[in-house]
Amino acid sequence: MKVREAIAGAAIDLREARILLAEVCGFSQASLAASADEEIPFEAENAFRGLLEKRKKGVPVAYLLGRKEFYGLELAVNPSVLIPRPETELLVDLALERKPPSVLDLGTGSGAIALALKCHAKKTRVTATEADLSALATARRNATKLNLGIDFRHGRWFEPVAGERFELIVSNPPYVAEGDPHLKDLSFEPQAALVAGPDGLDCIRDIVAGAGAHLSPGGWLLLEHGLGQERAVRALFSDAAFASIATWPDLAGIPRVTGGRLHGKR
Ligand SMILES: C[S@@+](CC[C@H](N)C(=O)[O-])C[C@H]1O[C@@H](n2cnc3c(N)ncnc32)[C@H](O)[C@@H]1O
Repeated sequence: MKVREAIAGAAIDLREARILLAEVCGFSQASLAASADEEIPFEAENAFRGLLEKRKKGVPVAYLLGRKEFYGLELAVNPSVLIPRPETELLVDLALERKPPSVLDLGTGSGAIALALKCHAKKTRVTATEADLSALATARRNATKLNLGIDFRHGRWFEPVAGERFELIVSNPPYVAEGDPHLKDLSFEPQAALVAGPDGLDCIRDIVAGAGAHLSPGGWLLLEHGLGQERAVRALFSDAAFASIATWPDLAGIPRVTGGRLHGKR
């Protein structure tokens, strides 16, 4: 079968079909485009059919490829970690603007936020916690591959950093409400990375409540959240006596990150 025929007959999104075919052929997208009339080797054709079957069942392309780009870094991903989302890059931008000497990333998953921060702020001490051991192993592999030194700790939110304080705490925690209809489109990703109680705010409540004991005076807490959660999240920050509370929109204009500053001077 020719490249052109394989793509036309794939019966999935054409862009995704090109990505998957290039992967099994070992081509770049440009070489694939230039090879439209080439015959596909038998093994590659079989592998392509296998990937198409999985994609038609809903497996995300990032899991099929085993990688996803985030903040210019190529990260290994697998079903134990959430696939890093482009909107989370806002959290990294806001964190880097603050030039903190030390950062704690809660619920690091693939390590996306912690690794992007370390890559762009080499002198910053970056610590990251994660409750899921398989996810933590993936984050550690990513750090090793990228040669970035992160202090990874296993455990729930602040448990692994008892008695320690940081200039900045960041997190993209689970924030989808139980029973949210969008969850059916996310069924291949770990539910523990997505769902946070009846209103989606259980993890954010825990993190805001615990952050004060782990921030240096004047330190910032920055949290990603979902569409329509910004008012409730700002109220949680306010109840916990944070100052300079603000919400920032992502590139789609959706209020995506809320932050606040602990009283005191840095
Ligand atoms: C939405 S994912 C974010 C992953 C990654 N930070 C990112 O932005 O792509 C949330 C992560 O928090 C982890 N998590 C959930 N509950 C946790 C807890 N109590 N303590 C630590 N990590 C937790 C999940 O396993 C998951 O990896």
